[in-house]
Amino acid sequence: MSTKTKPKYKRVAQLKTANDFREYLKTIGVELPFDDTLASPEQSPARKNFVLKSGQTIGNRFCILPMEGWDGTPDGRPSEYTKRRWKNFAISGAKLLWGCEAVAVRHDGRANPNQLLLTTATHDEYKRLYDSLIKDHREKFQNTDDLLVGLQLTHSGRFCKPNHQKKMEPQILYAHPILNRKFGLSEDYPLMTDEYIDGLIDDFIHASVMAQEAGYHFVDIKHCHGYLGHEFLSAHTRKGKYGGSFENRTRFLTSIVNGIKSAAPGLGVGVRLSAFDWVPFKPGADQVGIPESFEDKYSFAFGGALTGLGHDLTETFRFLKLIESLDIELVCITGGSPYYNPHIQRPALFPPSDGYQPPEDPLAGVARQLQVTADIKKAFPGLVIVGSAYSYLQEWLPNVGQSVLNNGLADFVGFGRMVLSYPEMPDDILKGNSLKRDRICRTFSDCTTAPRNGMISGCFPLDPYYKGLPEAATLKEIKAE
Ligand SMILES: Cc1cc2nc3c(=O)[nH]c(=O)nc-3n(C[C@H](O)[C@H](O)[C@H](O)COP(=O)(O)O)c2cc1C
Ligand code: SF4
Repeated sequence: MSTKTKPKYKRVAQLKTANDFREYLKTIGVELPFDDTLASPEQSPARKNFVLKSGQTIGNRFCILPMEGWDGTPDGRPSEYTKRRWKNFAISGAKLLWGCEAVAVRHDGRANPNQLLLTTATHDEYKRLYDSLIKDHREKFQNTDDLLVGLQLTHSGRFCKPNHQKKMEPQILYAHPILNRKFGLSEDYPLMTDEYIDGLIDDFIHASVMAQEAGYHFVDIKHCHGYLGHEFLSAHTRKGKYGGSFENRTRFLTSIVNGIKSAAPGLGVGVRLSAFDWVPFKPGADQVGIPESFEDKYSFAFGGALTGLGHDLTETFRFLKLIESLDIELVCITGGSPYYNPHIQRPALFPPSDGYQPPEDPLAGVARQLQVTADIKKAFPGLVIVGSAYSYLQEWLPNVGQSVLNNGLADFVGFGRMVLSYPEMPDDILKGNSLKRDRICRTFSDCTTAPRNGMISGCFPLDPYYKGLPEAATLKEIKAE
């Protein structure tokens, strides 16, 4: 699909003043927390420490969200591209590094042939990556006692592509009436067995032990974006001990967490959660996204309303209660999936090549994630809540972030795409520096379009390093087609 169609929504860069921004929100009927003026650096809520139950201090309220680059070696080690991205995370100024990207715990569970892979064979590389993060952060900010670093562990389930860029090798928990069809799987496509899942739980525990030995403070047991952990939560129709009842659908998480408690005592655990989901979307006649059709009620969206187009957080809250009972403190909220409803997951004005034109102003997508996150924070004041999807706010990210923190709508403001284009934005905000406008992410989605076409990810339009790579020219050709 061409991404050249002129977007019908006003660009954020055109909203020059706080008043312009507020007025535009009114015209599109979107409400966002917003402070017209920014506090001085000394007064900024973003500079406040956060102290975890363990006594560990996190030095400020900015968090780098996990972002992979499709750029590891075939055997799962970081490449120079990976190391550069992690360095950018380390020098961003944020004191919480959530992830820092999805790392598979076994080869056949990789989302692409270049996804990072933590095994006994690659373990040393992850220690070196951690040591480099600490060194780079120390060189710029001196203190690393208040830096909290996690490693996101994953199995990509339905979206596995471990061996060839063009060959999906899905591993599914149940036959999904829309997603099976959408990704070319027959209704009787074989399901992942309970025995495989038992072994996979051991792989997650083993990877957690290795992460702890490498120095990471916590592991994130990924439950978002349609990958395996997330798919468990909607496996109502699966038979056996991992499907059906709430207890069965969450057995994967509880088994891993209990295993970590005995095998890696002291290691923190976090969960990145798609707190709500919708029905999959597809391009309509005019390329604008429309929902896939379904019969009567849509019951496959965890945290989703039966209409398929809204949220119902009843089960989400039940899951978060479980998380509390497992002594998990760190939760990062996101929504939906980049594979089947990207506009609710990473709001963008320009869709990736496998996407669709936005069916709503992307600011509505930002507001939805912020609102769900605020509802969760209100209901679970004891959890440490990180919010996502701020990048589309662009120039106004600091004003919205400040209001979120001042009003306790989340504990941390998460930075995703923005730090691919503008790695030091968190530091600039914390220091009260004026923003570098030419580095602000404009949600061109090249960082998603490139990997969808078998290339490494990166900010090809705005990061001079990626601009100069041959992939940038190839990407231009793909987009022009
Ligand atoms: C290139 C790219 C890679 C991503 N990789 C991951 C990942 O490895 N793990 C994850 O949980 N989310 C991943 N995400 C999602 C982001 O963490 C984030 O939720 C999303 O981009 C929305 O936040 P933003 O508006 O600040 O970009 C990725 C997003 C992008 C654009
Ligand atoms: S390619 Fe760069 S500008 Fe485009 S969405 Fe990604 S980070 Fe933003």
